[in-house]
Amino acid sequence: MTLPLQLSLLLGIFLLASVAARTGPAHDKVVVCYISTWAVYRPKPGDYSIEHFDPSLCTHAIYAFAGLDIVHSAIKSLDPWQDLKEEYGKGGYERLTALKNTHPHLKVSLAIGGWNEGSKNYSTLVANPLQRGQFVKQVTSFVRKYNFDGLDLDWEYPTQRGGSPRDRENFVALTKELREEFDNYGLLLTSAIGAAKNVIDQAYDVRQISRYLDFLHIMCYDYHGSWDHKVGYNAPLMAPAVDPLSVQFTIDYLLKQGAPPSKLVLGLPFYGRSFKTALQGVLDDASDGAGFQGPYTREDGFLGYNEICISLSNKTSGWTKEWDAQTSQMLACSERSVFTQEVKVVTFDSSRSIANKVKFAMRKRLAGVMVWSVDTDDFLGECELDEDTFADFRLVKTAPRRLNNNYPLLRTINEATTLALEEIAADEIVVPDDSENEIPHGSIADRKNAAPAVVSFSLTCTFVYVLLQSLAH
Ligand SMILES: *[C@@H]1O[C@H](CO)[C@@H](O)[C@H](O)[C@H]1NC(C)=O
Ligand SMILES: *[C@@H]1O[C@H](CO)[C@@H](O)[C@H](O)[C@H]1NC(C)=O
Repeated sequence: MTLPLQLSLLLGIFLLASVAARTGPAHDKVVVCYISTWAVYRPKPGDYSIEHFDPSLCTHAIYAFAGLDIVHSAIKSLDPWQDLKEEYGKGGYERLTALKNTHPHLKVSLAIGGWNEGSKNYSTLVANPLQRGQFVKQVTSFVRKYNFDGLDLDWEYPTQRGGSPRDRENFVALTKELREEFDNYGLLLTSAIGAAKNVIDQAYDVRQISRYLDFLHIMCYDYHGSWDHKVGYNAPLMAPAVDPLSVQFTIDYLLKQGAPPSKLVLGLPFYGRSFKTALQGVLDDASDGAGFQGPYTREDGFLGYNEICISLSNKTSGWTKEWDAQTSQMLACSERSVFTQEVKVVTFDSSRSIANKVKFAMRKRLAGVMVWSVDTDDFLGECELDEDTFADFRLVKTAPRRLNNNYPLLRTINEATTLALEEIAADEIVVPDDSENEIPHGSIADRKNAAPAVVSFSLTCTFVYVLLQSLAH
Protein backbone atom coordinates (compact mmCIF):
# COMPACT_ATOMS: atom_id res chain seq x y z
CA MET A 1 0.00 0.00 0.00
CA THR A 2 1.18 3.50 -0.74
CA LEU A 3 1.64 5.91 2.11
CA PRO A 4 -1.25 8.26 1.15
CA LEU A 5 -3.58 5.29 0.79
CA GLN A 6 -2.63 3.93 4.21
CA LEU A 7 -3.02 7.35 5.71
CA SER A 8 -6.43 8.03 4.29
CA LEU A 9 -7.59 4.55 5.25
CA LEU A 10 -6.52 5.07 8.85
CA LEU A 11 -7.98 8.56 8.94
CA GLY A 12 -11.22 7.20 7.55
CA ILE A 13 -11.42 4.57 10.26
CA PHE A 14 -10.66 7.20 12.87
CA LEU A 15 -13.38 9.55 11.61
CA LEU A 16 -15.92 6.72 11.39
CA ALA A 17 -15.14 5.76 14.97
CA SER A 18 -15.67 9.30 16.23
CA VAL A 19 -18.96 9.68 14.29
CA ALA A 20 -20.21 6.34 15.61
CA ALA A 21 -19.81 7.62 19.17
CA ARG A 22 -23.16 9.42 18.90
CA THR A 23 -25.93 7.07 17.73
CA GLY A 24 -28.87 9.23 18.88
CA PRO A 25 -30.18 12.79 18.53
CA ALA A 26 -27.59 15.62 18.51
CA HIS A 27 -29.01 17.35 21.61
CA ASP A 28 -29.37 16.43 25.27
CA LYS A 29 -33.17 16.57 25.62
CA VAL A 30 -35.30 13.41 25.71
CA VAL A 31 -37.37 12.25 22.75
CA VAL A 32 -39.63 9.46 24.01
CA CYS A 33 -41.10 7.37 21.18
CA TYR A 34 -44.10 5.16 21.79
CA ILE A 35 -44.63 2.32 19.31
CA SER A 36 -48.20 0.98 19.13
CA THR A 37 -47.15 -2.55 18.32
CA TRP A 38 -50.57 -3.63 16.96
CA ALA A 39 -49.77 -1.28 14.03
CA VAL A 40 -48.18 -4.37 12.45
CA TYR A 41 -51.72 -5.55 11.62
CA ARG A 42 -52.64 -2.43 9.59
CA PRO A 43 -53.18 -2.81 5.82
CA LYS A 44 -50.14 -2.25 3.62
CA PRO A 45 -48.35 0.10 3.20
CA GLY A 46 -49.55 1.50 6.54
CA ASP A 47 -48.41 -1.57 8.49
CA TYR A 48 -45.58 -0.85 10.92
CA SER A 49 -43.18 -3.37 12.38
CA ILE A 50 -40.21 -2.89 14.70
CA GLU A 51 -37.93 -3.02 11.65
CA HIS A 52 -39.45 0.32 10.53
CA PHE A 53 -38.34 2.00 13.77
CA ASP A 54 -35.39 4.41 13.44
CA PRO A 55 -33.58 4.42 16.81
CA SER A 56 -31.34 7.33 15.78
CA LEU A 57 -34.32 9.72 16.05
CA CYS A 58 -35.34 8.87 19.63
CA THR A 59 -33.63 8.72 23.02
CA HIS A 60 -36.26 6.38 24.51
CA ALA A 61 -38.48 3.77 22.86
CA ILE A 62 -41.59 2.41 24.56
CA TYR A 63 -43.19 -0.88 23.57
CA ALA A 64 -46.97 -0.42 23.93
CA PHE A 65 -48.71 -2.34 25.49
CA ALA A 66 -48.46 -5.18 27.92
CA GLY A 67 -51.44 -6.01 30.15
CA LEU A 68 -52.27 -6.85 33.75
CA ASP A 69 -53.10 -10.38 34.92
CA ILE A 70 -55.04 -9.45 38.04
CA VAL A 71 -55.45 -13.09 39.17
CA HIS A 72 -51.68 -13.49 39.51
CA SER A 73 -50.82 -9.82 40.20
CA ALA A 74 -48.54 -9.99 37.20
CA ILE A 75 -47.67 -8.20 33.97
CA LYS A 76 -48.45 -10.30 30.89
CA SER A 77 -48.08 -10.14 27.13
CA LEU A 78 -51.32 -9.16 25.37
CA ASP A 79 -50.15 -10.75 22.11
CA PRO A 80 -47.74 -13.62 22.90
CA TRP A 81 -47.24 -14.49 19.22
CA GLN A 82 -46.04 -10.95 18.35
CA ASP A 83 -44.23 -10.23 21.64
CA LEU A 84 -42.53 -13.49 22.62
CA LYS A 85 -40.29 -16.10 21.01
CA GLU A 86 -41.93 -19.19 22.49
CA GLU A 87 -43.84 -21.47 20.08
CA TYR A 88 -42.29 -19.82 17.02
CA GLY A 89 -43.47 -16.37 18.12
CA LYS A 90 -42.02 -13.27 16.51
CA GLY A 91 -40.15 -12.11 19.62
CA GLY A 92 -41.10 -8.42 19.40
CA TYR A 93 -39.83 -7.59 22.90
CA GLU A 94 -36.34 -8.82 22.11
CA ARG A 95 -36.29 -7.42 18.57
CA LEU A 96 -36.86 -3.97 20.03
CA THR A 97 -34.43 -4.28 22.95
CA ALA A 98 -31.78 -5.71 20.57
CA LEU A 99 -31.61 -2.28 18.88
CA LYS A 100 -29.54 -1.19 21.88
CA ASN A 101 -26.64 -3.23 20.48
CA THR A 102 -26.26 -0.96 17.45
CA HIS A 103 -27.62 2.16 19.21
CA PRO A 104 -26.16 2.20 22.72
CA HIS A 105 -27.79 5.56 23.52
CA LEU A 106 -31.27 4.03 23.30
CA LYS A 107 -33.32 3.17 26.41
CA VAL A 108 -36.23 0.80 25.87
CA SER A 109 -39.16 0.48 28.26
CA LEU A 110 -42.24 -1.73 28.32
CA ALA A 111 -45.58 0.03 28.83
CA ILE A 112 -48.36 -1.61 30.83
CA GLY A 113 -51.97 -0.46 30.37
CA GLY A 114 -53.44 1.76 27.68
CA TRP A 115 -57.05 2.76 27.08
CA ASN A 116 -58.38 -0.72 26.25
CA GLU A 117 -57.11 -2.21 29.51
CA GLY A 118 -59.56 -0.07 31.45
CA SER A 119 -58.94 1.07 35.00
CA LYS A 120 -60.71 -1.34 37.34
CA ASN A 121 -58.14 -4.16 37.56
CA TYR A 122 -55.37 -1.63 38.26
CA SER A 123 -57.50 -0.15 41.03
CA THR A 124 -57.87 -3.64 42.53
CA LEU A 125 -54.13 -4.31 42.28
CA VAL A 126 -52.94 -1.15 44.02
CA ALA A 127 -55.53 -1.42 46.82
CA ASN A 128 -53.89 -4.54 48.28
CA PRO A 129 -50.32 -4.23 49.67
CA LEU A 130 -49.73 -7.97 49.27
CA GLN A 131 -50.75 -7.95 45.59
CA ARG A 132 -48.70 -4.79 45.02
CA GLY A 133 -45.67 -6.51 46.49
CA GLN A 134 -46.09 -9.58 44.27
CA PHE A 135 -46.54 -7.37 41.21
CA VAL A 136 -43.41 -5.34 41.96
CA LYS A 137 -41.26 -8.50 42.22
CA GLN A 138 -42.75 -10.15 39.13
CA VAL A 139 -42.66 -7.06 36.88
CA THR A 140 -39.01 -6.45 37.82
CA SER A 141 -37.93 -9.92 36.69
CA PHE A 142 -40.19 -9.69 33.61
CA VAL A 143 -38.64 -6.47 32.25
CA ARG A 144 -35.15 -7.76 33.05
CA LYS A 145 -35.82 -11.09 31.33
CA TYR A 146 -36.45 -9.34 27.99
CA ASN A 147 -33.63 -6.81 28.45
CA PHE A 148 -35.91 -3.76 28.88
CA ASP A 149 -34.44 -0.74 30.66
CA GLY A 150 -37.63 0.04 32.52
CA LEU A 151 -41.39 0.11 32.92
CA ASP A 152 -43.88 2.76 31.78
CA LEU A 153 -47.19 2.86 33.70
CA ASP A 154 -50.12 3.62 31.40
CA TRP A 155 -53.03 3.23 33.79
CA GLU A 156 -55.82 5.35 32.28
CA TYR A 157 -56.56 6.61 34.88
CA PRO A 158 -56.38 6.22 38.67
CA THR A 159 -59.79 7.11 40.26
CA GLN A 160 -61.48 7.20 36.80
CA ARG A 161 -63.47 4.77 34.66
CA GLY A 162 -64.53 2.47 37.50
CA GLY A 163 -61.57 3.22 39.76
CA SER A 164 -61.82 4.25 43.41
CA PRO A 165 -61.03 7.56 45.17
CA ARG A 166 -58.33 5.63 47.09
CA ASP A 167 -56.43 5.07 43.81
CA ARG A 168 -54.74 8.45 44.22
CA GLU A 169 -52.77 7.45 47.33
CA ASN A 170 -52.45 3.80 46.30
CA PHE A 171 -50.84 4.87 43.03
CA VAL A 172 -48.23 6.78 45.05
CA ALA A 173 -47.57 3.59 47.05
CA LEU A 174 -47.13 1.58 43.83
CA THR A 175 -44.64 4.06 42.35
CA LYS A 176 -42.74 4.18 45.66
CA GLU A 177 -42.45 0.39 45.93
CA LEU A 178 -41.48 0.02 42.26
CA ARG A 179 -38.83 2.71 42.71
CA GLU A 180 -37.28 0.92 45.70
CA GLU A 181 -37.06 -2.36 43.77
CA PHE A 182 -35.98 -0.78 40.46
CA ASP A 183 -33.11 1.06 42.15
CA ASN A 184 -31.49 -2.33 42.82
CA TYR A 185 -31.15 -2.82 39.07
CA GLY A 186 -30.92 0.73 37.68
CA LEU A 187 -34.29 0.42 35.93
CA LEU A 188 -36.30 3.40 34.68
CA LEU A 189 -39.78 4.09 36.07
CA THR A 190 -42.02 6.42 34.07
CA SER A 191 -45.75 7.01 33.70
CA ALA A 192 -48.15 8.36 31.13
CA ILE A 193 -50.22 11.12 32.74
CA GLY A 194 -53.66 12.39 31.67
CA ALA A 195 -53.86 16.03 30.58
CA ALA A 196 -57.38 17.03 31.64
CA LYS A 197 -57.64 19.23 34.75
CA ASN A 198 -60.26 17.05 36.45
CA VAL A 199 -58.16 13.91 35.87
CA ILE A 200 -55.04 15.60 37.29
CA ASP A 201 -57.00 16.85 40.32
CA GLN A 202 -58.49 13.46 41.14
CA ALA A 203 -55.92 10.93 39.93
CA TYR A 204 -52.49 12.26 40.78
CA ASP A 205 -50.66 13.41 43.87
CA VAL A 206 -48.29 15.20 41.54
CA ARG A 207 -45.66 16.11 44.12
CA GLN A 208 -45.43 12.57 45.52
CA ILE A 209 -45.38 10.62 42.24
CA SER A 210 -42.77 13.06 40.91
CA ARG A 211 -40.44 11.86 43.70
CA TYR A 212 -40.55 8.26 42.48
CA LEU A 213 -40.90 8.56 38.69
CA ASP A 214 -37.97 9.33 36.41
CA PHE A 215 -40.25 11.03 33.89
CA LEU A 216 -43.92 11.98 33.60
CA HIS A 217 -45.14 11.57 30.02
CA ILE A 218 -47.97 14.09 29.71
CA MET A 219 -50.62 13.04 27.19
CA CYS A 220 -51.29 16.54 25.83
CA TYR A 221 -53.88 15.55 23.22
CA ASP A 222 -57.53 14.50 22.82
CA TYR A 223 -58.63 17.89 24.22
CA HIS A 224 -61.40 17.88 21.58
CA GLY A 225 -62.78 15.19 19.29
CA SER A 226 -65.91 13.82 17.66
CA TRP A 227 -67.37 13.09 21.14
CA ASP A 228 -67.96 16.87 21.54
CA HIS A 229 -70.43 16.80 18.59
CA LYS A 230 -68.68 19.85 17.18
CA VAL A 231 -65.43 20.55 15.37
CA GLY A 232 -62.53 21.31 17.74
CA TYR A 233 -58.74 21.17 17.87
CA ASN A 234 -57.15 17.90 19.03
CA ALA A 235 -54.21 19.50 20.83
CA PRO A 236 -54.26 23.33 20.97
CA LEU A 237 -51.03 24.84 22.28
CA MET A 238 -52.77 27.93 23.68
CA ALA A 239 -56.42 28.69 24.38
CA PRO A 240 -58.23 31.74 25.76
CA ALA A 241 -57.21 32.30 29.40
CA VAL A 242 -60.44 30.87 30.86
CA ASP A 243 -60.19 27.58 28.88
CA PRO A 244 -58.32 24.76 30.67
CA LEU A 245 -58.27 22.62 27.51
CA SER A 246 -54.83 23.45 26.14
CA VAL A 247 -51.26 22.19 26.27
CA GLN A 248 -50.15 25.38 27.98
CA PHE A 249 -52.78 25.06 30.71
CA THR A 250 -51.89 21.41 31.39
CA ILE A 251 -48.16 22.05 31.69
CA ASP A 252 -48.51 25.22 33.77
CA TYR A 253 -51.00 23.44 36.03
CA LEU A 254 -48.68 20.47 36.63
CA LEU A 255 -45.80 22.84 37.38
CA LYS A 256 -48.05 24.66 39.86
CA GLN A 257 -48.86 21.31 41.53
CA GLY A 258 -45.14 20.83 42.19
CA ALA A 259 -43.92 18.76 39.22
CA PRO A 260 -40.23 19.53 38.57
CA PRO A 261 -39.81 20.75 34.95
CA SER A 262 -36.80 18.43 34.59
CA LYS A 263 -39.16 15.42 34.93
CA LEU A 264 -41.98 16.65 32.68
CA VAL A 265 -42.09 15.32 29.12
CA LEU A 266 -44.55 17.05 26.78
CA GLY A 267 -46.64 14.62 24.70
CA LEU A 268 -47.15 15.37 21.01
CA PRO A 269 -49.81 13.66 18.86
CA PHE A 270 -48.77 12.17 15.52
CA TYR A 271 -52.47 11.94 14.69
CA GLY A 272 -55.54 14.11 14.27
CA ARG A 273 -59.19 14.00 15.33
CA SER A 274 -61.78 13.63 12.57
CA PHE A 275 -65.31 15.00 12.17
CA LYS A 276 -68.18 14.96 9.65
CA THR A 277 -70.38 18.02 9.31
CA ALA A 278 -73.22 19.26 7.08
CA LEU A 279 -72.05 22.85 7.69
CA GLN A 280 -68.97 24.60 6.22
CA GLY A 281 -66.29 22.59 8.03
CA VAL A 282 -64.91 25.31 10.27
CA LEU A 283 -64.22 25.36 14.02
CA ASP A 284 -67.27 24.78 16.27
CA ASP A 285 -69.48 23.52 13.42
CA ALA A 286 -71.97 20.95 14.69
CA SER A 287 -70.80 17.45 13.72
CA ASP A 288 -71.93 13.84 14.08
CA GLY A 289 -70.61 12.03 17.15
CA ALA A 290 -68.38 9.58 15.28
CA GLY A 291 -66.07 11.27 12.78
CA PHE A 292 -64.60 9.01 10.10
CA GLN A 293 -61.81 6.45 9.62
CA GLY A 294 -58.51 6.33 7.78
CA PRO A 295 -57.49 3.45 5.48
CA TYR A 296 -54.70 2.21 7.79
CA THR A 297 -55.73 2.99 11.37
CA ARG A 298 -59.43 2.20 10.73
CA GLU A 299 -60.81 3.85 13.86
CA ASP A 300 -63.73 6.33 13.79
CA GLY A 301 -62.68 9.84 14.84
CA PHE A 302 -58.93 9.16 14.47
CA LEU A 303 -56.52 9.74 11.55
CA GLY A 304 -52.78 9.09 11.57
CA TYR A 305 -50.57 11.98 10.40
CA ASN A 306 -49.49 9.78 7.49
CA GLU A 307 -53.12 9.29 6.45
CA ILE A 308 -53.70 13.05 6.63
CA CYS A 309 -50.56 14.14 4.77
CA ILE A 310 -51.14 11.67 1.95
CA SER A 311 -54.54 13.30 1.23
CA LEU A 312 -53.06 16.79 1.50
CA SER A 313 -50.14 15.95 -0.82
CA ASN A 314 -52.59 14.70 -3.47
CA LYS A 315 -53.49 17.72 -5.61
CA THR A 316 -56.63 16.08 -7.01
CA SER A 317 -57.99 14.87 -3.65
CA GLY A 318 -59.89 18.15 -3.03
CA TRP A 319 -58.50 18.58 0.51
CA THR A 320 -57.51 22.06 1.72
CA LYS A 321 -55.88 23.12 4.98
CA GLU A 322 -55.83 26.16 7.20
CA TRP A 323 -53.34 27.16 9.92
CA ASP A 324 -54.56 28.59 13.22
CA ALA A 325 -51.89 30.76 14.83
CA GLN A 326 -53.36 30.97 18.34
CA THR A 327 -53.57 27.22 18.88
CA SER A 328 -50.72 26.18 16.53
CA GLN A 329 -53.19 23.70 15.02
CA MET A 330 -54.00 22.78 11.44
CA LEU A 331 -57.56 22.20 10.21
CA ALA A 332 -58.02 20.30 6.96
CA CYS A 333 -61.26 19.98 5.07
CA SER A 334 -62.52 17.80 2.20
CA GLU A 335 -64.83 18.83 -0.62
CA ARG A 336 -68.55 18.29 0.07
CA SER A 337 -69.63 14.76 -0.79
CA VAL A 338 -72.28 14.74 -3.52
CA PHE A 339 -73.80 11.67 -1.88
CA THR A 340 -73.98 12.61 1.81
CA GLN A 341 -73.76 16.41 1.41
CA GLU A 342 -71.21 16.27 4.26
CA VAL A 343 -67.75 17.75 4.64
CA LYS A 344 -64.96 15.76 6.32
CA VAL A 345 -62.77 17.71 8.75
CA VAL A 346 -59.59 16.77 10.60
CA THR A 347 -57.69 18.86 13.16
CA PHE A 348 -54.08 17.88 13.67
CA ASP A 349 -50.45 18.78 14.38
CA SER A 350 -48.47 19.74 11.27
CA SER A 351 -44.68 19.98 11.47
CA ARG A 352 -45.10 23.69 12.31
CA SER A 353 -47.34 22.71 15.27
CA ILE A 354 -44.72 20.22 16.42
CA ALA A 355 -41.88 22.75 16.08
CA ASN A 356 -43.81 25.38 18.07
CA LYS A 357 -44.64 22.90 20.84
CA VAL A 358 -41.00 21.80 21.05
CA LYS A 359 -40.04 25.46 21.48
CA PHE A 360 -42.70 25.79 24.20
CA ALA A 361 -41.24 22.74 26.02
CA MET A 362 -37.72 24.18 25.77
CA ARG A 363 -38.84 27.58 27.10
CA LYS A 364 -40.43 25.82 30.07
CA ARG A 365 -37.14 23.92 30.55
CA LEU A 366 -38.89 20.56 30.40
CA ALA A 367 -36.97 17.29 30.02
CA GLY A 368 -38.09 17.01 26.40
CA VAL A 369 -41.00 15.65 24.39
CA MET A 370 -42.85 12.36 23.88
CA VAL A 371 -44.75 11.18 20.81
CA TRP A 372 -47.84 9.05 20.43
CA SER A 373 -46.91 7.36 18.21
CA VAL A 374 -44.10 6.86 15.68
CA ASP A 375 -46.12 4.38 13.57
CA THR A 376 -48.38 7.17 12.25
CA ASP A 377 -45.57 9.56 11.28
CA ASP A 378 -44.96 9.49 7.52
CA PHE A 379 -42.41 6.75 8.19
CA LEU A 380 -42.19 5.81 4.50
CA GLY A 381 -41.64 9.40 3.33
CA GLU A 382 -44.62 9.48 0.97
CA CYS A 383 -45.73 13.07 1.55
CA GLU A 384 -44.54 16.49 0.45
CA LEU A 385 -42.57 18.23 3.20
CA ASP A 386 -44.17 21.28 4.84
CA GLU A 387 -42.42 24.52 3.94
CA ASP A 388 -43.59 26.55 6.93
CA THR A 389 -42.15 24.32 9.69
CA PHE A 390 -39.95 27.01 11.25
CA ALA A 391 -42.09 30.04 10.30
CA ASP A 392 -42.42 30.97 13.98
CA PHE A 393 -38.68 30.68 14.73
CA ARG A 394 -36.65 33.85 14.82
CA LEU A 395 -33.23 32.63 13.71
CA VAL A 396 -34.21 30.29 10.85
CA LYS A 397 -36.73 30.47 8.07
CA THR A 398 -36.00 27.32 6.13
CA ALA A 399 -35.76 23.79 7.38
CA PRO A 400 -32.27 22.30 7.74
CA ARG A 401 -31.35 20.07 4.81
CA ARG A 402 -32.43 16.47 5.32
CA LEU A 403 -30.83 13.33 3.96
CA ASN A 404 -34.11 11.47 4.07
CA ASN A 405 -37.78 12.45 3.58
CA ASN A 406 -39.22 9.87 5.97
CA TYR A 407 -40.28 10.59 9.57
CA PRO A 408 -40.91 14.31 8.89
CA LEU A 409 -42.43 14.89 12.34
CA LEU A 410 -39.73 13.06 14.30
CA ARG A 411 -37.03 14.88 12.33
CA THR A 412 -38.82 18.17 13.06
CA ILE A 413 -38.68 17.38 16.79
CA ASN A 414 -34.92 16.92 16.74
CA GLU A 415 -34.25 19.93 14.52
CA ALA A 416 -36.62 22.14 16.52
CA THR A 417 -35.02 21.09 19.82
CA THR A 418 -31.59 22.28 18.67
CA LEU A 419 -32.98 25.43 17.01
CA ALA A 420 -35.18 26.36 19.98
CA LEU A 421 -32.27 25.97 22.42
CA GLU A 422 -30.16 28.22 20.16
CA GLU A 423 -32.93 30.81 20.01
CA ILE A 424 -33.33 30.76 23.79
CA ALA A 425 -29.56 31.01 24.32
CA ALA A 426 -29.42 33.95 21.91
CA ASP A 427 -32.20 35.69 23.87
CA GLU A 428 -30.26 35.21 27.07
CA ILE A 429 -26.97 36.60 25.79
CA VAL A 430 -26.19 39.94 27.37
CA VAL A 431 -23.91 41.82 24.99
CA PRO A 432 -20.89 42.81 27.11
CA ASP A 433 -19.88 46.47 27.44
CA ASP A 434 -16.25 45.69 26.74
CA SER A 435 -16.07 45.67 22.95
CA GLU A 436 -12.90 43.58 23.08
CA ASN A 437 -14.81 40.67 24.58
CA GLU A 438 -15.78 38.10 22.07
CA ILE A 439 -19.52 37.90 21.47
CA PRO A 440 -20.53 34.24 21.62
CA HIS A 441 -21.65 32.82 18.32
CA GLY A 442 -22.33 29.47 16.71
CA SER A 443 -24.83 26.87 17.79
CA ILE A 444 -25.09 25.38 21.24
CA ALA A 445 -24.19 22.06 19.73
CA ASP A 446 -20.99 23.60 18.31
CA ARG A 447 -20.06 25.04 21.65
CA LYS A 448 -20.83 21.82 23.51
CA ASN A 449 -18.82 19.78 21.05
CA ALA A 450 -15.93 22.24 20.89
CA ALA A 451 -13.77 20.60 23.57
CA PRO A 452 -14.03 16.97 22.34
CA ALA A 453 -13.42 18.19 18.77
CA VAL A 454 -10.11 19.81 19.80
CA VAL A 455 -9.09 16.66 21.65
CA SER A 456 -9.90 14.41 18.73
CA PHE A 457 -8.12 16.73 16.29
CA SER A 458 -4.96 16.74 18.36
CA LEU A 459 -5.25 12.97 18.79
CA THR A 460 -5.49 12.65 15.02
CA CYS A 461 -2.37 14.83 14.61
CA THR A 462 -0.43 12.77 17.14
CA PHE A 463 -1.62 9.61 15.43
CA VAL A 464 -0.53 10.78 11.96
CA TYR A 465 2.80 12.02 13.33
CA VAL A 466 3.56 8.67 15.00
CA LEU A 467 2.52 6.89 11.83
CA LEU A 468 4.79 9.02 9.66
CA GLN A 469 7.65 8.45 12.11
CA SER A 470 7.23 4.68 12.01
CA LEU A 471 6.93 4.61 8.22
CA ALA A 472 10.06 6.76 7.91
CA HIS A 473 12.15 4.13 9.71
C1 LIG B 1 -59.82 -7.65 34.45
O1 LIG B 1 -59.54 -8.90 34.99
C2 LIG B 1 -60.56 -9.88 34.75
C3 LIG B 1 -60.18 -11.15 35.52
O2 LIG B 1 -58.97 -11.66 35.05
C4 LIG B 1 -60.67 -10.11 33.24
O3 LIG B 1 -61.67 -11.05 32.96
C5 LIG B 1 -60.98 -8.79 32.56
O4 LIG B 1 -60.98 -8.95 31.17
C6 LIG B 1 -59.97 -7.72 32.96
N1 LIG B 1 -60.38 -6.44 32.43
C7 LIG B 1 -59.83 -5.90 31.33
C8 LIG B 1 -60.42 -4.62 30.87
O5 LIG B 1 -58.88 -6.41 30.77
C1 LIG C 1 -55.61 11.39 -5.37
O1 LIG C 1 -56.97 11.63 -5.09
C2 LIG C 1 -57.86 11.20 -6.08
C3 LIG C 1 -59.26 11.71 -5.71
O2 LIG C 1 -59.61 11.28 -4.41
C4 LIG C 1 -57.80 9.70 -6.21
O3 LIG C 1 -58.67 9.22 -7.22
C5 LIG C 1 -56.35 9.28 -6.54
O4 LIG C 1 -56.22 7.89 -6.54
C6 LIG C 1 -55.38 9.89 -5.53
N1 LIG C 1 -54.02 9.68 -5.98
C7 LIG C 1 -53.15 9.00 -5.26
C8 LIG C 1 -51.78 8.90 -5.85
O5 LIG C 1 -53.42 8.47 -4.19
